[in-house]
This record gives sequence, C-alpha cells and structure tokens, in this order.
Amino acid sequence: MNAAVSPHAPAQHFDVGPFDAVLGAEIVGIDLAQPLNDADFARVHRAHLEHGVIVFRDQHLTPEQHIAFSRRFGELQIHVLHQFLLAGHPEIFIISNIIENGQPVGLGDAGKFWHSDLSYKDIPSLGSMLYAQELPEEGGDTLFASQQAAYEALPVELKARLEGRRAAHSYLARYDDEVFAGIRRPTLTPEQIAEVKPAIHPVVRTHPETGRKGLFVNKNFTTHILDLPADESCDLLKELFAHSAKPEFIYRHRWQPNDLVFWDNRALIHLATGCPSHLRRRMHRTTIQGDVPF
Ligand code: SIN
Repeated sequence: MNAAVSPHAPAQHFDVGPFDAVLGAEIVGIDLAQPLNDADFARVHRAHLEHGVIVFRDQHLTPEQHIAFSRRFGELQIHVLHQFLLAGHPEIFIISNIIENGQPVGLGDAGKFWHSDLSYKDIPSLGSMLYAQELPEEGGDTLFASQQAAYEALPVELKARLEGRRAAHSYLARYDDEVFAGIRRPTLTPEQIAEVKPAIHPVVRTHPETGRKGLFVNKNFTTHILDLPADESCDLLKELFAHSAKPEFIYRHRWQPNDLVFWDNRALIHLATGCPSHLRRRMHRTTIQGDVPF
C-alpha cells in the first residue's frame, strides 16, 4: 500500500466546484499531503471522470507525495526524455523554460501543439498531474479541449465517416519542429527512438470508465488515418484538428501558486500557451498509464 492510501484516514472536508466551462472543477479544502480514505478518494475519482480536469488548490507536496497520490490512479509512465526527469524521482518529468549554465532544466516547449499525453504509445496515458513549482507573472496558461463534446458536436455524416477508422500516432513526427528559445530538443539515442515506435489507435475512442465517446486524434502526434489516400487523410485530419479546438470545447487554466491539475488524457487534449521567455516557469508532471484505446 502506498503512502497516499489509507482506508481509515479521517475524512477530509472539501468542496468540488465546477467551472463555468465545458470542462473543469476546482477542489478546495483537500490536503493531498495527507492520505485520503476510500470515500474521499472515490469522490475525487468521480470528479475527475465528470469534469475531465480537476484543479487542487494550494497543495504543498514533496515529490514523494506527488508520486504517491498519482499512483492511486495507476502505474506511472516514465518519459522518454530521460534528460528531464527529476533527479532521484524518474516518475516526475520537468517542464520548464529555465536555462541553467546554458542547459535547459526541463522540456521548454512541452505542449506547444494540441495533444493527449503519450498518445504515441500502444498504451497511452490515463491522465497527467501537473504541479506548479514556479509560475511567470504573465502568461503560462494551459488550455484543455473536451474531445467528447467535440465528437458529440460533429455532423452525423462525419461521425459515420469516422466509424471504425484508425490513425497512426508518432512521437517523432514533430520532434524537430519543437525548438524553444533557440535550443533544439536533445538528439535522441537509438534506445530512445526504439522506445517510441508509432502506435495505431481508433480515431474515436470509448472512455473505458464512462463509456462516453470522444475524438482521439491530435495535431502533435497523429500523422495519418489508415486506409485512406494521403490527401484525403490529410484533409480529414485538418478538419478534425480545427474542429477539436473550437472555443466552445475549451477550458483555459490560469495557474495559481501551488495548483496541482489532474486531467483525463482519454477525454481531452491540451495545449501550453507559453509565456514571455524572460519569465521563469517550472512545472512537475506525473503521467499515469491508461489502457489500450478501443
Ligand atoms: C504538457 O503538455 O503536459 C504541459 C502543459 C503545460 O506546461 O502547460
């Protein structure tokens, strides 16, 4: 049993307040540094499924506590960019624009294109927990777009066209497009390249816990739709990418100090909007493994 699990821990008194948006709720009054009992954990779990993005305000967690809470939802995935894993805690991936001694301390351009974390893997992510360590005074917001609302809003003819379709996802497809403050991403070793073989997933996936259907393609990693001529696949993906990020499907997260945000990669895509490069931003992410999309 990990440190975040304690069936008999005292109940915590917290509120779940949905945002005025298609996604998202704020959880106030909970202390994730303390173990959650089963009933409190079940409430948090339900809020995550219902709202897609849950924001825990004012958390003061050690890396061990961040990892322990993340593990309550499943096994953790270790990011292929080993250069940016927190020393002694490979479960934590550092996302940051900070350069120290000429070297980036984390991935500077993470999330520059809409994506679902690790959709390039055969077993993509259930969800990610991003914990604010250092925030810029300006910018640095994260956008989340509900792919279930996006799917539901598609015209019936387009839904029929997507039925049974599968798409390829590749980590390497846009790897070289991602240059941050003039610094290229690290050159991948043959071992790293072998870790990120392309994956094939349904274009529309069914959420394994709620049964709700959602689009499962994204601009960062989806390269083409199988069994279609290249130009048709390209046009269809362009149409889906444009549709999937319409304003009505989006919740914009404006970070507050000590926020921990937990989103559902099976139900939404997200995008980091960036901040002026002279301002410092540092975030710690854990990524929870999901299951094979169907
Ligand atoms: C990510 O794509 O996981 C990072 C999002 C962010 O830094 O806002």
